[in-house]
Amino acid sequence: MNISKIIIFDGEFMTDTKDDLVDKSSISGFSGFYKKSLDERARILMDYAQLTDKETSALKNTGALSLETANQMVENCIGGIHLPLGIATNFKINKKNYVVPMAIEEPSVIAAASRAAKFTLPAGFYGEADEPIMRGQVQLVDVNSDAEININKYTGEIESRLNKYAAGMEQYGGGYRYFSTRRLQKLRGVLLFEFFVNVSDAMGANTVNSIAEKIAPYLEDLTGGKVRLRILSNLATERMVRVKAVWKKKVIGEEGVKGVYDGFLFANNDVYRATTNNKGILNGVDAVLLATGNDWRAVEAGAHAYASFSGDYRPLAKYTITRDGDLEGYLEMPLAVATVGGATGRFRTAEISRKILNVKSSRELAMVVGAVGLANNFAALYVLSTEGIQKGHMRLHSRNIAVMAGAKTSNEINLVAQALYEKKDYSLDFARSIIKGIREGL
Ligand code: MEV
Repeated sequence: MNISKIIIFDGEFMTDTKDDLVDKSSISGFSGFYKKSLDERARILMDYAQLTDKETSALKNTGALSLETANQMVENCIGGIHLPLGIATNFKINKKNYVVPMAIEEPSVIAAASRAAKFTLPAGFYGEADEPIMRGQVQLVDVNSDAEININKYTGEIESRLNKYAAGMEQYGGGYRYFSTRRLQKLRGVLLFEFFVNVSDAMGANTVNSIAEKIAPYLEDLTGGKVRLRILSNLATERMVRVKAVWKKKVIGEEGVKGVYDGFLFANNDVYRATTNNKGILNGVDAVLLATGNDWRAVEAGAHAYASFSGDYRPLAKYTITRDGDLEGYLEMPLAVATVGGATGRFRTAEISRKILNVKSSRELAMVVGAVGLANNFAALYVLSTEGIQKGHMRLHSRNIAVMAGAKTSNEINLVAQALYEKKDYSLDFARSIIKGIREGL
């Protein structure tokens, strides 16, 4: 491999090469994927990800979660709910190609991510993810005034207990890392004990919560206080992902560059826009999290808190215009994602999604999720600042309207959707009249 230049990214040196950036063998099969029939898509995916017949039929059976499994997962279970699962194409991250499963009910999101990713080629995205370190918090109230002194004095014993409680993670390269204490200015007598654990490829909630509960009685002894909450924090600032990509002026045009950049400035200066902007990022992020059986509420909570870290709610992705006039996007957010544990193994489709993704660790998955978030943000800003969002959106949504109006076969759905789009009349009444016409042979 010919190393021709070095990209400096956030203090890290990453090698980049000139012509070997697109591994055509692994992504060319996906060009025009959207035009293929469902069976053809299944065949392509089977070949690409070496899916077994059983896995392929589990994907086709959109209710792959059995009622028995669902009943073991939640209380008062009465059924399951399905979401469409699609794949985003054209993702190249740190020179590796990915086909990215996304579960989402909203039309356009998967297409938008794929299109934005295509515009980054041949270079694709660059990303890095921190060690998977999660923070556990133990709240102690009414502590003695010498609480910290005692904690310092018994640091060795505290650490040996924490090491023991987190020992299960060591075989996976994880384990206890360090602890600290904090006072909360407005809460007299309250001491926060925070400890940090590398949770490896898990999301970490169970590991961290168990450790917090185990260490709590000893902390009560040391501080003379009473333990209240013992729980991990979903603001995973020790587990950040950073992703960047360049959209070249020659690919997206000067107006594209300026439009996205102005859109970013708008979000950076207005909380109402920043909220919608970040919703667009989370469209992509959540869809990959859902597809892979991850806890998207945890990531959402962390993302919004991180967006407010400066005191103002800001966009999670930033853009600059380079000296060559290209657009550089950079996304940074906390991302606690798992490839093992939690619900990741309960959903057959989540397991298959991970197989399709071919990620080897939670850190690698975090980079993919971040890249999709950045892609969706770019796509939204690009389309909003140029042709507007409704044209493409309504084209896709017209199929939903056709189904709601009673269209049954693919042929009916296509004809109705086409008529709605052409007439720009998306009312159910109009859709019903088209169906009636088709059925009466008009
Ligand atoms: C719609 O689901 C998401 C967008 O509103 C995001 C944005 O405005 O940036 C298009």
